[in-house]
Amino acid sequence: MSMLKKIAVSTLLGLNFGFATLAFTQQKPVDAEGHQWWQHAVFYEIYPRSFADSNNDGIGDLNGITSKLGYLQDLGVDAIWLTPCFPSPQVDFGYDVSDYQNIDPMYGTLADFDRLASQGKQHGVHIIMDFVMNHTSDQHPWFVDSRSSRTSAHRDWYVWRDGLKNGGPPNNWESLFGHSAWTFDPKTGQYYYHYFYVQQPDLNWRNPAVEKAMFDVTRWWYRRGVAGFRLDAVDTLFEDPDLRDNPILPGTNAYGDPNMVNKYNIKLPEVHDVLRRLRKVADEHGAVLIGETYTSDIGELKEYYGEHGDELQMPMDMMFAQVNRLSPDEFRRQIAAVEGAGGWPVYVLGNHDRPRSYNRYGDGQHNDAIAKLMAGLYLTLRGTPIMYYGEELGMENNDPRRKEDVKDPIGKTGWPEEKGRDGERTPMQWNDSANAGFSQATPWLPVAPSYKTHNVASELNDPNSILNFYRHLLALRHEDPALRDGEYVPLNQTDPNVLSYLRRYKGEAVLVVLNMSGSDQKVSFDLASQGFPATKAATLLTTVSAHPQEASLSGISLEPFTVYIGKVSK
Ligand code: GLC
Repeated sequence: MSMLKKIAVSTLLGLNFGFATLAFTQQKPVDAEGHQWWQHAVFYEIYPRSFADSNNDGIGDLNGITSKLGYLQDLGVDAIWLTPCFPSPQVDFGYDVSDYQNIDPMYGTLADFDRLASQGKQHGVHIIMDFVMNHTSDQHPWFVDSRSSRTSAHRDWYVWRDGLKNGGPPNNWESLFGHSAWTFDPKTGQYYYHYFYVQQPDLNWRNPAVEKAMFDVTRWWYRRGVAGFRLDAVDTLFEDPDLRDNPILPGTNAYGDPNMVNKYNIKLPEVHDVLRRLRKVADEHGAVLIGETYTSDIGELKEYYGEHGDELQMPMDMMFAQVNRLSPDEFRRQIAAVEGAGGWPVYVLGNHDRPRSYNRYGDGQHNDAIAKLMAGLYLTLRGTPIMYYGEELGMENNDPRRKEDVKDPIGKTGWPEEKGRDGERTPMQWNDSANAGFSQATPWLPVAPSYKTHNVASELNDPNSILNFYRHLLALRHEDPALRDGEYVPLNQTDPNVLSYLRRYKGEAVLVVLNMSGSDQKVSFDLASQGFPATKAATLLTTVSAHPQEASLSGISLEPFTVYIGKVSK
């Protein structure tokens, strides 16, 4: 596939006051360039089910995450994005929310969340929540009321339509998760629309009451100490009011449905009006909005920043995330494009919907070297990186081998062509003991076999591990103004094997050289035209085995899939 106990009012008021103060301090720039905190931050996505299980029920939880804040701080993480941990029937593992203002008991309580937020503050780790805007669970009280009668108070909170006169759904739109996007509800004799699962009815964002209720949800979490939201499936909020059929393409997809262009049910312009208004609410709380923006070209990505920079501060560049091959040319093109979009770039390699970067970029033989190479790329670019848990270990996909083992419903519908997303959601590998130290109970998904070697405890003891490479690189990124704020200057742009660039800041620069090929390479640089007549670079970090303390710019030798990062001064 391409793709929330009430607390005493007095306590709540106390939190309100405290966090409102925090909110305004967050709006202050953190440097002379006027950057905000999130522009200097490293974000880290946590899939709560799979991170750390404190109560040993086989499913991760908030107290588990809190217990690992020290690990995250030492790694160099400044913000964690939690995928949905709100009450949910878990059809889409939390992306089907039945109460936006609570924590699912399987993950803990609101008091646990408050502890996570306050300890996060002590560790310098901001909390980002996932805002599932497009749809709710079919168990959400709004939908339960909506489907109860055609005249119910919430009827118009969802998208209900009559079927065609001769029978069948209102039009040909397909769910991203397979088959018709319309489900007939016999009680009221109409169809409701769901871009995702049948159990995920789409909210009607044309109804101002929906917008008000959903915006209030964000205000509630901001008052609780949340630093921002990752907006789920933001492309899908609006549909064509005339329900025009989508154009059909030749062939069928993994679910056996006709291929089609989602012309009339995604990326409608109205979404930008909602984002501008949502941003105003965020700005009142000093919050950051991150977008799950599956754009097909840079023009579309540009629109998500807003014409006046008044929509998303951080739309993810998913085009970069989908290069899927070690191609310097392709990465150069993608970086230049996002650099030209005028906003602050956001780089992602992997997430809970995509096979792990370790597998997508690995060649099967040099996977660990390639994992460091890829870190050397997305953690040294100008912009904010969002890591995916376990990426720093070289965690691999562990796809189900039998249909009966599949948990993700799309894997059941699409088997064997679409195996679902279980493989990239397996438990975090903490050590080499049973269940990789994630839980004392059998985990909800099986641990990947690589946990014996690729785990936090073992990798911390190995100076050459992927984890230690990440730790050194993130420390460098936090210390070096050129890596944080420097402009991106591409070098040697015709080299088919080696991707090189400078991060130039005032009188200094960091040179990044990435051998994306399986053969030895020797590269030279003439940096005089970039304002650096230097002949040598002082090594900051490298995976080249000789580990030179400095490198001559007239010839840097790189073994297959190695990284060289050095400082050049005037
Ligand atoms: C987003 C989430 C994905 C979820 C879908 C529906 O794409 O990342 O995991 O299934 O939205 O909410």
